Amino acid sequence: MGFRRQTDANGLQSVGSERDGNASQITSELGHRPPRGKVATTFGKFQASNHVATLQPDVRQNQRVRCKLRQAVHGLAMVALAVGAGNAVAEESTAEQRQQVRLPETPYDYTQASLPKYVRKHAAMYDNTPADNPITNHGATLGRVLFYDRQLSRNGTTSCASCHQQKLAFTDGKKVSVGFDRKAVTRNSMSLLNLRYYRRGKMFWDERAASLEAQVLMPIENKVEMGHRLPELTRQLQADPLYPPLFAAAFGSPQVTSERMARSLAQFIRALVAFRSKYDVGRDQVATVHDAFPNFSKQENYGKELFLGRARCAECHLEPQPGVPLDSAARQSAFFFIAKPTVNGVDSDVPKVDLGVGAATQRREDQGRFKVSSLRNILLTGPYMHDGRFITIEQVVEHYNWSVRPHPNLDPRLADFAANGLALPETEKVALIEFLGTLTDRQILSDPRFSDPFVRRPSPVESE
Ligand code: HEC
Ligand code: HEC
Repeated sequence: MGFRRQTDANGLQSVGSERDGNASQITSELGHRPPRGKVATTFGKFQASNHVATLQPDVRQNQRVRCKLRQAVHGLAMVALAVGAGNAVAEESTAEQRQQVRLPETPYDYTQASLPKYVRKHAAMYDNTPADNPITNHGATLGRVLFYDRQLSRNGTTSCASCHQQKLAFTDGKKVSVGFDRKAVTRNSMSLLNLRYYRRGKMFWDERAASLEAQVLMPIENKVEMGHRLPELTRQLQADPLYPPLFAAAFGSPQVTSERMARSLAQFIRALVAFRSKYDVGRDQVATVHDAFPNFSKQENYGKELFLGRARCAECHLEPQPGVPLDSAARQSAFFFIAKPTVNGVDSDVPKVDLGVGAATQRREDQGRFKVSSLRNILLTGPYMHDGRFITIEQVVEHYNWSVRPHPNLDPRLADFAANGLALPETEKVALIEFLGTLTDRQILSDPRFSDPFVRRPSPVESE
């Protein structure tokens, strides 16, 4: 048995036996049975099969630390393989130690977004899908595999899903995200739900990506997030038996290119459509958003009234349609995006704060402006704001209630708030938050179409 013992910067040890890694053992370890109704088991080259971690007992207590440790152990597995290159034993096992995915024989349907009636009316007008990259089932399937593949990061520890977790509406629950080598990013992860209906189509808190297709490759080469290089990654995926068939199904030939990666990732993300909330059920039963929803409690209906009226949240977070008055029955009440980046008074105009769009465009009038995700599933996506400064939704409401700060670019819709505060009493605040809770679509959190397709080896650190 060729054990290697490694100790990383945090003093964690991992002991890897590289000799035991043969394919049959891997499959039995995973409890993987021969495919029935599912196709499976193309092997990728990256994950080591049997690594045992020795952890100090006191760290075992803490769930969050355990997550990090798990990542560290995956990182160490990579180190062990890299160190072993040139060594016959390690090389032999590298070829056998491959990732498995489990995909349905007929691909899932990603093309039919099931939209409530009232959403269908406006969907086309807001949809940012480009004519040359419509969603296909094979394209989105490839996007799904890439989204969950840790090979996309330089050390094989981090996938898109590390910072965009399905159960958290595709955010990560952290104040600011943490990248492949455990360095912190400066911003809070953004939800990926319903991005297809952000009419401007621009991405990131500061909108520096012109489209979803332009955005999806940026985390891969970002030095803190995933730290990889696209030319190298393309070669790596081309050589991985998992990918050429998936590229062939999606694009007609097995060639791996970064453009095809971008297209398929964008297709997968555009398929993340969530309109199965209590709000949607209620909205479909009434003529206008202003009517009381029959399925809402009194408090939820009151919260809705506040959101649309006195608290003025809707003026920004339900993008007004050009030329359609806010109280009109014809206005859209579906998407909960803001129309364009703006200043909501979280910072005064002081040096050293994140300038948002202003940092990207270098224009003074853009300083302090931020895009923001849709408020759908908002109760699951905290911490809040571009830097995750508010941990709870109550703190967000308190911000609008009392703490809107003056700023030269403060949105005029908040000017009164800065002067006087919104000053909602306690019962109103609670009702408003109850209403926000009706925007949660729970089905998307476990929809198999968007789940991790990789068969993960049971981790010695954390049972998955
Ligand atoms: C290390 C954590 C991390 C990883 C890994 C990561 N992201 Fe993100 N993602 C973020 C953060 C943080 C932001 C906001 C960054 C900003 O605005 O500067 C973001 C923003 C986005 C947005 C913009 C959403 C919007 O509403 O504008 C998309 C789309 C996205 N990520 C997709 C991906 C994809 C696809 C991958 C994998 C290729 C990925 N992310 C990998 C943390 C991460
Ligand atoms: C003038 C437009 C405007 C108004 C009015 C407004 N918001 Fe916002 N809201 C924004 C902007 C812009 C951001 C992002 C700011 C940032 O991150 O720096 C934001 C962020 C948020 C967030 C955090 C979202 C996330 O993903 O982190 C929540 C929650 C929120 N607003 C709720 C509300 C509620 C509730 C109201 C009504 C009391 C309201 N907003 C009124 C513009 C507005």
